[in-house]
Amino acid sequence: MQRSTIDNPPFIAMPELDLPQRQSPDALMLTGFWYRALSADRVHRKRLHPALLLEIPLVIGRDTQGRPFALRDACPHRGMPLNCGRFDGENLECGYHGWQFDVHNGQCQHIPSLTPDQKLTVDRIYAGSYPCEEQDDFIWVYIPDPGPPGAGFGPPAAAPVPAPTIEKFSNHYKLAHLQAEMPVSIDHGIIGLMDPAHGPFVHQAWWWRSRHSIHEKQKHFEPIPNGFRMTAHTPSSNSAPYKLLRLYAEADSITTTIDFVLPNIRTETIRAGKYWFSSLTTVTPITRRQCRIDVVAAWNLFRWIPFAPGLLKFVFGKFVEQDRRTMQLQAEGLKHNPHLMLIDDADRPAKWYFQLKAAHLEAKRTGSSMQHPMSGPVTLKWRS
Ligand code: FES
Ligand SMILES: [Fe+2]
Repeated sequence: MQRSTIDNPPFIAMPELDLPQRQSPDALMLTGFWYRALSADRVHRKRLHPALLLEIPLVIGRDTQGRPFALRDACPHRGMPLNCGRFDGENLECGYHGWQFDVHNGQCQHIPSLTPDQKLTVDRIYAGSYPCEEQDDFIWVYIPDPGPPGAGFGPPAAAPVPAPTIEKFSNHYKLAHLQAEMPVSIDHGIIGLMDPAHGPFVHQAWWWRSRHSIHEKQKHFEPIPNGFRMTAHTPSSNSAPYKLLRLYAEADSITTTIDFVLPNIRTETIRAGKYWFSSLTTVTPITRRQCRIDVVAAWNLFRWIPFAPGLLKFVFGKFVEQDRRTMQLQAEGLKHNPHLMLIDDADRPAKWYFQLKAAHLEAKRTGSSMQHPMSGPVTLKWRS
């Protein structure tokens, strides 16, 4: 992954009287993680769907049993996109010279041009293949670190951990998802997601809040592996599910936890007695200039009100659309690579994100364990 000044605008941190620090991460897109590729309801049996993840073209599908798979969308023979081939539910046949591949490990099964006396070992040829799992309405694909040149003549290495799942606290629950594409880099997508100060300006609605509802807030953060957590036990939260949960429980019995972990995952868990709401939001790098936000929520509230899931989806849909529109405008401003700044305390989570990313890359480079940028719990204050 190389640096690019266009896509990697220099962030200047503005601590009290420190010299401005550059906050540009070394790589925009982190490999070695699971990413959401497509929503599961868009991937059909015996059909092929092209998808782009971290600028890697993929072809995604399901076999006859419904099991998902992900291959690199380029034939290892002469690069024909495999999504233009034929798929019988088991093997994928390239549309150019008819080579056939097992969709789950990419192994070549047949090369039609070979004569019986030609001894090419067909099964030593592989199309690029990626670990692939279906989880909470999404097809997840594991993008490994780039291998040494010449690698790829083998089955995919297994992912070191399973794909992330939403935490659920009862057997019966509802699940819904939303997505929106943003014409900004993964970094802007993520810091926009964790930014607490834009709420009163971007997420105004008569039924929600206005800029006049701004007030001072104080939140507690602590380091967790690969990320940080905001813990709260407070009636002052403005979050959407929180307001809805207050219909069910006393404000001070409600607990909220919001985690961010590399590379791109924000989870929010709200509990009020036996009721709970849980969401897992990801910002997925599609290209260096484009990302996609996927929100999946699970909850056991309002199961008896027929329109409640629709209502929740409406509220979230509004928020996501407001963020999308804002980032679309922001992308105009970013086109000419302006200097930017991050201020305390409202942008501290954004600074942690850049520091976590840098620490992760440094640990990878040196092979040592990651030095977490936070040394302990921190309380942040801002008005929003
Ligand atoms: S390019 Fe795919 S079989 Fe030749
Ligand atoms: Fe937002």
